[in-house]
Amino acid sequence: MAKLNTRLQNKVAMITGAGGGIGRASALKMASEGATVMCADINTQAAEGTVALIEEAGGRADAIGLDVSDGDQVSDAIAETVSKLGALNILFNNAGVGGDLDWDQTIAINLSGVFYGLDHGAKYMAEHGGGVIISTSSIAGLQGLVSPGGFFPAEAREGKLAYIAAKHGVVGLTKQYALDFGELGVRVNAIAPGYIQTAMTAPVFEDRAAEDFLRGLTPIGRLGQPEEIAAVASFLASDEASFVTGVTIPVDGGYSAR
Ligand SMILES: NC(=O)c1ccc[n+]([C@@H]2O[C@H](COP(=O)([O-])OP(=O)(O)OC[C@H]3O[C@@H](n4cnc5c(N)ncnc54)[C@H](O)[C@@H]3O)[C@@H](O)[C@H]2O)c1
Repeated sequence: MAKLNTRLQNKVAMITGAGGGIGRASALKMASEGATVMCADINTQAAEGTVALIEEAGGRADAIGLDVSDGDQVSDAIAETVSKLGALNILFNNAGVGGDLDWDQTIAINLSGVFYGLDHGAKYMAEHGGGVIISTSSIAGLQGLVSPGGFFPAEAREGKLAYIAAKHGVVGLTKQYALDFGELGVRVNAIAPGYIQTAMTAPVFEDRAAEDFLRGLTPIGRLGQPEEIAAVASFLASDEASFVTGVTIPVDGGYSAR
């Protein structure tokens, strides 16, 4: 008999980058499994749009504007989540930018932003009965990437290299926080998505040849959907993953298997 999945019942989740793509899909998924979700995004209106979708579907959510590259804002957002929604059981450090910004900006959002979430989140959870942290790395956090035109073009090189460095850094931080907070009841994992159809990758996929090239590198033979990342995030957030910590799970259609 089909049963409603309520494995996140009575949990409060904060998801960064919840205004679109993987973050929005994860907010919808976790809310559908019973969590109350704080949708955090630098684009507050987009976060509110996600809240509206969750509420339309009968779930519970709230929105907050947040720039993850500012550690104080991350700390304040956690405090606001607790004061408005009553707890913080799950934190998904998912916000990120592609390789279009310069080195410092990319590192500030994609690496420091995750560090602030891990640090403030793990400390809060350790003092309040434990919890689960998930961060979004990338296949670019597991290996170097090849691009359709060969090595990264000169004009985009700095941001792309910063992206690789930041996403590898997320894998390392995930291991260290898992070690340091394991006995304090905090599980810490990451997800390494392959090529997923979101606003971030839309410009790449507009180029048919580039899309064919990247699809050709993916053994499953297609690009991924945000819901396919959300499914793994929700699993990691749940007690079904109670013995899983310190890992980065590739969700990439087999991309990293070669
Ligand atoms: N799409 C892919 O193929 C892919 C692959 C691997 C990893 N990722 C990672 O997945 C995560 C989500 O990306 P996506 O594809 O859903 O992209 P997206 O652009 O659809 O969503 C990213 C969200 O993050 C928000 N954001 C950007 N900067 C922020 C900041 N400083 N503070 C708070 N929010 C901010 C944006 O407003 C947006 O809503 C990113 O970390 C990205 O690096 C994506």
